Formats: sequence, C-alpha cells, structure tokens
Amino acid sequence: MTHKPVLLQETIDHILGDPNGLYIDCTLGGGGHLQELMSRLSEGARVIAIDRDINILEQTRQQLADDRIRFVHADFKDLKQILNKEEFANVDGIMIDLGVSSFQLDTPERGFSFHSDADLDMRMDTSQKLKAWDIINTYSEAELANIIFKYGEERYGRIISRAIVQARENKNIDTTLELAEIIKNAVPAKYRREKHPARKTFQAVRIAVNDELGAIEKVLPQALEALKSGGKVGIITFHSLEDRMVKKFFNEKSRNCICPPQMPVCTCGGQRAKVKLVNRKPVTPNEEECLINHRARSAKLRVAQKI
Ligand SMILES: C[S@@+](CC[C@H](N)C(=O)[O-])C[C@H]1O[C@@H](n2cnc3c(N)ncnc32)[C@H](O)[C@@H]1O
Repeated sequence: MTHKPVLLQETIDHILGDPNGLYIDCTLGGGGHLQELMSRLSEGARVIAIDRDINILEQTRQQLADDRIRFVHADFKDLKQILNKEEFANVDGIMIDLGVSSFQLDTPERGFSFHSDADLDMRMDTSQKLKAWDIINTYSEAELANIIFKYGEERYGRIISRAIVQARENKNIDTTLELAEIIKNAVPAKYRREKHPARKTFQAVRIAVNDELGAIEKVLPQALEALKSGGKVGIITFHSLEDRMVKKFFNEKSRNCICPPQMPVCTCGGQRAKVKLVNRKPVTPNEEECLINHRARSAKLRVAQKI
C-alpha cells in the first residue's frame, strides 16, 4: 500500500513562502508532502529532505529525482549539524510529519506490524543497536508497564507487561506474532473483540525503540533557530504526548514572559516572543479525509511563524 500523506494541502499551504526559497522536509518518507511542495516551488528553490530510514530515503530519492533536493540520511534531532552555515537561519519553511510510514508498516521484515511474522525489530534506522527485542526481553516489568501505559495509552499495560515477563521466563520472545499472541491471551476477552489488542503495545514499543519523543524535544528549538524571520514550521502529530510537546513549546515561544501568572515580578529575564502562532487551534483532517485514510483520524497540524 502506498503512503497517503495526511493534511497534504493544508500543510503545504501553511509553510509555503518564497517559491525560490530554502525548505526542509524532516520526515521524507514516501515523499507525498515533498512532491506537492516541489510542484509549488520555482526552479531556484532548494530543499533538504531528511529521513533516518535509509531504505525509504533511497527509494524516494529515485522516485523524485529532482536536482533541487538534497537527500540526507540522518535523524532530524541533529538538524543543526545537517545544515551548513549559509543554510542555517535562512530557511523559509520546515515540515515534520511524525510517526511511521506505510512503507515501514507494510514491510513485514521490519517488525512494525502485529499482522505478519517477523523478528522483533521496529528500528527506523537499521544501523541503530536497540531493537524491540531488547526492550521486550530485557526491560523490567515496571519499565515495560511504564512504556506501554505512557506511549501506548494502554489501560491493560500492567497485565500485558506481567504476561510478557512470565512468558520470557520459559524462552525469549523472538517474533512479532509471539508477542501479539501473548498480549491477546493476557487481556480480557471483551477487549479482544474491539480493535486488535496488540495495537497500542506495538505503538508504545516502537516509540520507545526509536526514542520518538526525545527526537521531537531536540528538534523543536533547532527548527526555530534554522528559520529566517517570517519562516514557518508545520508539525503533524499523531499522539497526544507529541502534540502536547509541540503545543507547549510553541506557546512558550510565543509569549513575551514565561513566568507563572502568580509571580508578582518577572524573573524570566523578560523573554521576547520568538514566534507567532499561525493558528490557535490545531488543523485537523475533515471527515472525508478520515474516511479515506484511517491514519488521519488522530492527526493534528500546528504551525508557528518566526518573528
Ligand atoms: C509519516 S512518515 C512521512 C510521510 C511523508 N510526509 C509522506 O508524505 O510520504 C514519517 C517518516 O519520518 C521518518 N522519521 C521518523 N522520525 C524521524 C527522525 N527522528 N529523523 C528522521 N526521520 C524520521 C520515518 O522513517 C518515516 O519515513
């Protein structure tokens, strides 16, 4: 299945500025957003397209074959290092479309899916050491419960983590289907009849393997620094924790003082607002898009403009 870009027009409409400018796509994936952006840019534009997944980067590089794009295999958390001196603080627009792409989910051997059997992997960057196997087979019951509850928002996190620890007393849990079966047998029968009971746990383990929240926390201030005055950054999130981080960061940077309201005098040194919120409320997909693309249902786009 090809990846359907979420909030496609809305994202490009929001971040587009100078058609001859410099843009960054931090999450290239199948290049859906980038292709739309390229179609609206002029000959003189330059784009840096980043993905930490070398397979998807190479595949999309061949498909797009556009001289205006520089493709970079890297983690966007290192954005400042990726840009050269002349590019830094000169960027017109940045887009970040978080999460996994359908390419990753639909390649069984990558171990992201609970529908097909594969080694427990889930790494976006396959040169990374930590795999899902390590988390499932070596983390303590409390650590597992914490990951599953926090990143998966899974109400049966404790029951599932106990079942994982019990199962691995006999033998290591090596594959995606072994893990999915352990989860299925651990949760109440009623829950099994709803959506697939392993869905939230797989999401949680994936977020932990790829330190997805850590990467967002690191990229936000760098994205702001990289923009030129008037430049815009648009971020699409799919998880409440991700959205909360982006919202808090944008809100803080849009205020002239970040002291708590009960403080009688300003002690933050009178921070000056660095961004303007382009929209107070996040942009969300309409019903039609949600019907065509299930993944879109939890998407939220937030955009900030550098002052
Ligand atoms: C949702 S997909 C992007 C889809 C893309 N916008 C499109 O329309 O085809 C997210 C992509 O970002 C990549 N990615 C996720 N976190 C990353 C990070 N920290 N650094 C670089 N790439 C990352 C994933 O490997 C994946 O290919």
